[in-house]
Amino acid sequence: MRIPQHIIDQIFETARIEEVIGQFVNLKKSGSNYKGLSPFSSEKTPSFMVSPAKGIFKDFSSGKGGNVVSFLMEHESYSYPEALRWLGKYYNIEIPERELTPEEKAKLDERDSLFIANAFAEKFFTDQLESEEGRAIGLSYFLERGYRDDVIKKFQLGYSPDKSDALIKAADEGGHNLEFFEKLGLVKEKENGDRFDFFRGRVMFPIHNLTGRVLGFGGRTLKKSKKTAKYFNSPESPIYHKSDVLYGIYQSRNSIRNKDLCYLVEGYTDVISMHQSGIENVVASSGTALTPGQIRLIKRFTPNITILFDGDPAGIRASFRGIDLILEEGMNVKVVPFPEGEDPDSYSKRVSSDELVAYLEEHAQDFISYKSNTVLAETKNDPIKKAGLIREVLESIALVPNQISRSVYIQQTSQQFEIAEQTLISELNKILRNNQKKDRREQGYTDADTLDLIVPETKTPEKQPAPGIDLDYQEFDLIRLMLLYGSFGVEVEIESEDGSGTEKIEIPVVQFILEELEESDISLSNERAKLILNEFQIAARDGIIPNLKHFVNHENQEISSCAVNLSADRHYLSENWTKMHNIYPETEEMKLQRAVEEAVWIYKLRRVRLMKAELGVRLKNKLSPDEEAQVMSTIIKYNEIISVISDKLNIVVAK
Ligand code: CTP
Ligand code: MN
Repeated sequence: MRIPQHIIDQIFETARIEEVIGQFVNLKKSGSNYKGLSPFSSEKTPSFMVSPAKGIFKDFSSGKGGNVVSFLMEHESYSYPEALRWLGKYYNIEIPERELTPEEKAKLDERDSLFIANAFAEKFFTDQLESEEGRAIGLSYFLERGYRDDVIKKFQLGYSPDKSDALIKAADEGGHNLEFFEKLGLVKEKENGDRFDFFRGRVMFPIHNLTGRVLGFGGRTLKKSKKTAKYFNSPESPIYHKSDVLYGIYQSRNSIRNKDLCYLVEGYTDVISMHQSGIENVVASSGTALTPGQIRLIKRFTPNITILFDGDPAGIRASFRGIDLILEEGMNVKVVPFPEGEDPDSYSKRVSSDELVAYLEEHAQDFISYKSNTVLAETKNDPIKKAGLIREVLESIALVPNQISRSVYIQQTSQQFEIAEQTLISELNKILRNNQKKDRREQGYTDADTLDLIVPETKTPEKQPAPGIDLDYQEFDLIRLMLLYGSFGVEVEIESEDGSGTEKIEIPVVQFILEELEESDISLSNERAKLILNEFQIAARDGIIPNLKHFVNHENQEISSCAVNLSADRHYLSENWTKMHNIYPETEEMKLQRAVEEAVWIYKLRRVRLMKAELGVRLKNKLSPDEEAQVMSTIIKYNEIISVISDKLNIVVAK
């Protein structure tokens, strides 16, 4: 259910951002702000800032910033409602829950019971490591593999006794309902109705979700015989959906976020050994290809993924298709091949932590170039084979959503295969067109609908440098002034009522800027700046000037993050800006009058010049006499505006 707006407002009004973030980050007062070490990167000098007055945080090392809710979403991986509920709980603000239907309630109750049963089993298995049998068999196995105590604890490793009813008995005695243990696959039933423990005589690897609850188990046999499967795994259950789960995500999530990189390995033991070697940003797919759900799980923490391959060429080749899925998600994929016969587990045991880190860094290769190399090695000098295999590489490139990345890959592939870029581009475009057609057919479009090419086939002549970038800067500057000083006063000269001359009155910054823009019929060109301006315009009709917090806490993420960035940027008063506005030792607030005027006029000047230039281009075409006259008169009007503004700015303009 949607949380009612008045409750959301109440939460934002009550929540103190420095208090909430203080739960997760060690903050120290610094002037009117608070400072601390970034929780999103590993830094040594604090560059993480919290401003109670503005209600924002800004992390200058990772660039992240936002309000109290976005902090919780970012740091705790909560959804928007989850973050609001966290705050509601913290500040004792009651959030009404919808009445659940009886079926929903039963389902919730069942999930709870299943989690309780799994938690009980986990504790039972870890406790067994201290029993006689567990020490002699389970613990000694882990120690033989070289696992340290702290790592065994961190991953809650355990042992399931080699008896048919050890867990059953313990659960019974603890007053648990065995039905739930059966649903989880921990206990099975024979045909005659007798129950037995499923994971007998195995060492146990619990599988956790993001918040550390146990979803299921992997149990490794200690027997060398090939008769039994090396691992037994918990089946799917109402709480365990294998395709959305990655082994190690709970223990690794913070490191994945801080390192902004996720290593992907095959097995439980690879994850554990790497943690023991100090590499903690690693998860395992448990021996299968990644699913879209698992990719999305990683993507919540980082767009960068590096896959560690065991040294088996056939296996590597077979995994290429699966990796395409990761490219399709827009993630950056690298691979690290291991020497034949080694996996991350065995390798990390042979070398020191530093050597392992160095190996990973030195051998990480971009996936597409790795694929090209592999494929090239296969073609030898067979041109026909080569053509077919290039297409395979192009198919991967076609899945990369970002056009610039695609262009870079094309350049690189062209060099690797010694084939002209244009040839590859037109081949790539064929694939893109086909993919698009397929997608669109699936969405119910017909082939006749126009299709845009994604990479232009011939280079268009370079246009003049886009003035848009400059204008964006000016537009954001206006928005920034409105956000920070919206209701501060600036003086304007108006004609006095008796017509005897002019007089000065004070109006709010927001009004000044809105009127200046309206007067010359200028609308902003940057979409995000426009969004915010629009809110100011609508509120102005009711005589309201929304304050910074209104925007910072806005439900529209785009507005909120834009407001945060504009109000938080400590580099804003950088050299450039200072020079442009002629402000030196004084603060912007003291020079507000001049700062606002200049921001408006400089923007107008550039904008009008640009509009004039566009008209100049039109004049070069054949126009009817009427049209031409109209264009000419507009140009004259623009010239007037330009000279008025130039006077105000005290600058000489070349016309
Ligand atoms: N796996 C499985 N069932 C099997 C074999 C493997 O579920 N019969 C999964 C497990 O998740 C395992 C992963 O595939 O972790 C990788 O397999 P493997 O490399 O054989 O296992 P390791 O975990 O590396 O175990 P060990 O180092 O003890 O051989
Ligand atoms: Mn292995």
